[in-house]
Amino acid sequence: MAIMGNTLKTSLNNLVLKNPILTASGTFGYTNEFDEFINVSKLGAVITKAISLYPRAGNKNIRITETKAGMINSIGLENIGIKRFIDEKIPILKAKSIDYIMNIAGSTIDEYIELGKICQENSIKAIEVNVSCPNVKQGCLEFGIDENSLYELIKAIREEYKGYLIVKLTPNVTRIENLGLAVEKAGADAISAINTLKGMSIKINNQQGKVTKTIIQGGYSGIGIKPVAISCIYRLSQVVDIPIIGIGGIETLDDILEFFAAGAEAVEIGTANFTHPEISEKLVDELEEYIIKNGYKNLDKLKEELRK
Ligand SMILES: Cc1cc2nc3c(=O)[nH]c(=O)nc-3n(C[C@H](O)[C@H](O)[C@H](O)COP(=O)(O)O)c2cc1C
Repeated sequence: MAIMGNTLKTSLNNLVLKNPILTASGTFGYTNEFDEFINVSKLGAVITKAISLYPRAGNKNIRITETKAGMINSIGLENIGIKRFIDEKIPILKAKSIDYIMNIAGSTIDEYIELGKICQENSIKAIEVNVSCPNVKQGCLEFGIDENSLYELIKAIREEYKGYLIVKLTPNVTRIENLGLAVEKAGADAISAINTLKGMSIKINNQQGKVTKTIIQGGYSGIGIKPVAISCIYRLSQVVDIPIIGIGGIETLDDILEFFAAGAEAVEIGTANFTHPEISEKLVDELEEYIIKNGYKNLDKLKEELRK
């Protein structure tokens, strides 16, 4: 096992992480669920599931289904709401020295602004604004697909929240570059991409000629979306100057190297946590070993080489 030094130190301008491996929102619970598998405090940061102004029960229908190359989810942003999150979960994260980024989601612009205000009042160091969830009836993706509404929304949150502000973008648009440019102009510190793709699965059961169907519509994630994610990161990196955090189907060290080559400064591990709960810590170790074995001085030197 590699010894943790400064080899993996990752500076996303004014947010410095001990390494570039983060966990993706909604795939890592409130983090205590992973205590029995890994040392969570070793990760660059965990990103909380989407936290809303008020508690949300989530969707009633089937919430998850497996596909050949990933999964479709329709969780509907179930969470305990920001008040309980701050009172009950943050003290635990602090006690365990876990670096965290709070993912926030609103149904209206006012809700996002209020969430930004509360994060500011409670000195939350970094937030990831979720404007890209395809599984809720109101809000979220509505703001995230139009560059003008997105610009207005992020500008309004920025006025209230002075900490590190990441905007999580959707791939469900023709030109993700326009969204990237809009959030950079609105004052975002970084971009994370991608959230899930809109997907649908129809499972057919035929009992002697009588067909019954199980249908799920929601966000498609996992290994199948990686090429889409790589393309989005690459195209964004051609137009924005703020750091990009890459997400989408990451399962191995080679996947991470591909994201770095495309222009990502850090990565988030999502769906892979469900099948391999130990994966994120394993990838931290593997990345450090790779850098040492190949004689790079640090992570920045590796990224430089990958982007030549
Ligand atoms: C079950 C599930 C729940 C998710 N919940 C959230 C969420 O609350 N907020 C958010 O921004 N993204 C959410 N996502 C999207 C992931 O954070 C990530 O962007 C996406 O799954 C792509 O990465 P992956 O292919 O590695 O899973 C969720 C994804 C899954 C599979």
